[in-house]
Amino acid sequence: MEHDITLKLADEQATLKLGADFARALCAGVNIYLHGNLGAGKTTLVRGVIHGLCFVGKVKSPTYTLVEPYQVMMNQTNTNVYHFDLYRFMDEDEWDAAGFRDYFNPHSVCLIEWPDKAGSLIPQADIDVYLELDGECRIARLIGNTTAGKECLERYQEF
Ligand SMILES: Nc1ncnc2c1ncn2[C@@H]1O[C@H](COP(=O)(O)OP(=O)(O)OP(=O)(O)O)[C@@H](O)[C@H]1O
Ligand SMILES: [Mg+2]
Repeated sequence: MEHDITLKLADEQATLKLGADFARALCAGVNIYLHGNLGAGKTTLVRGVIHGLCFVGKVKSPTYTLVEPYQVMMNQTNTNVYHFDLYRFMDEDEWDAAGFRDYFNPHSVCLIEWPDKAGSLIPQADIDVYLELDGECRIARLIGNTTAGKECLERYQEF
């Protein structure tokens, strides 16, 4: 089983579908970092994941709010999913003041755009996703770093 998967995504629908498929393989406690330039498709992929977790409603980019929380059912359990966009994050003191540290716990899932902006404030990624432009398409690379992350990738490949 691969813990480093590369996929070609022909269009926005393909990115949304990858997210939705991946959502079925997710479990609580997993942190996913999304890397890639502006417009690479990070938010689109997260949208696919959150809708794949049966959240009904708009999934908007948290560029100004830094984080958008969602409540979904995962494996019959109420689970918090936090979508971070740290592009504009600057003030490290704000991290604890805002309570963001507590968002990283075994009962939640964190999906983080621009994780490098948080430096060492955030825990290690269970899964790193790299998105890049390839003409009109996108290339996605998914890498499992931890046991939990690798197990997610294994479940994803079993579907
Ligand atoms: N596989 C794909 N092929 C072509 N276009 C895509 C693909 N996936 C997403 N897009 C398009 O790319 C555009 C930018 O996507 P998105 O907002 O998800 O990028 P982002 O990585 O979150 O950018 P930012 O860093 O600004 O938050 C959107 O218009 C989306 O429809
Ligand atoms: Mg985005």
